[in-house]
Amino acid sequence: MTTTPAQLAAAIPKAELHIHIEGSLEPELIFALAQRNGLSLPYPSVEALRDAYAFTNLQSFLDIYYAGASVLLHEADFHDMAWAYFLRAKADNVVHTEIFFDPQTHTARGVPMATVIQGLSSACERARAELGVSAALILCFLRHLSEDDAFATLEAALPYRQHFIGVGLDSSEVGHPPSKFSRVFARCRELGFHVVAHAGEEGPPAYIREAIDDLKTERIDHGVRSLEDPALVAELARRRIPLTVCPLSNLKLCVVDDLRQHPMKRLLDAGLCATVNSDDPAYFGGYMNANFVQTVEALDLSRDDVITLARNSFEASFVSATRRAELMALLDDAVA
Ligand code: ADE
Ligand code: ZN
Repeated sequence: MTTTPAQLAAAIPKAELHIHIEGSLEPELIFALAQRNGLSLPYPSVEALRDAYAFTNLQSFLDIYYAGASVLLHEADFHDMAWAYFLRAKADNVVHTEIFFDPQTHTARGVPMATVIQGLSSACERARAELGVSAALILCFLRHLSEDDAFATLEAALPYRQHFIGVGLDSSEVGHPPSKFSRVFARCRELGFHVVAHAGEEGPPAYIREAIDDLKTERIDHGVRSLEDPALVAELARRRIPLTVCPLSNLKLCVVDDLRQHPMKRLLDAGLCATVNSDDPAYFGGYMNANFVQTVEALDLSRDDVITLARNSFEASFVSATRRAELMALLDDAVA
């Protein structure tokens, strides 16, 4: 029996590099945490909440995503959310993951930074020990807030710096260019953090250029609009600056009208280090393998494309050289 490219995609080991942990909060868990914490929700049922997940653009999603995260109050809530994600990741043969979290969404509600980071970090340790999944945290600044607010967030997080490996930039893109955060990113680089940023999801290719030139980001999150600027594509390809692409997110947020029009194949054919990721899987209709399988089928990707995507995920990750070699060997064994 021969395996199809989609079956291969599901079966092989892979890394996930673009997942907002608050976006893995399933409606069932939102209701369970609301009950545990004595909170009432503006939706009568799990089904009613899920029915509200009809988005027209990024902002229409973010409004409901921030509301969903308001049920997270205690360390155990953050741990339980991340643990639920790790079980899903394991089931999809994700062997390494780099997880975004949005501390300002929680500290603005009075939740201490320690609660957020310790809850997530203990789940990462448990994933390593119990599932064999390696995991690291990336702190994201909310770009609709000020750079001063980002600086204050960095200050508050520094006592826990051993628990996160990098910083990122997310939330409402258009009108909040990367250059708004030049100084705080320079400080983060000085401190030795990895740096990434969302750019070119809804925003123009110029934002991707700012992210790499001004913030000196090591990866671009999304970056699908890079294709509008051939010189930029050539530079991203030449410098092997990875793009963490999220196909089902692009579909649900109307960045593309149909998965068959998704730019993933064009990105690969341009020689870019593109990767597949789930972004906010509880909101966008699927975790890693759903993203992989649906993209492979919609774009008729080949077996070689699938293997390239998995290899890219390990190449683009912030693991040690030793761990990278281990991950590449796992992949080689799986495709042999
Ligand atoms: N926060 C969570 N998901 C996001 C996305 N797709 N773009 C920007 N900010 C986000
Ligand atoms: Zn994202």
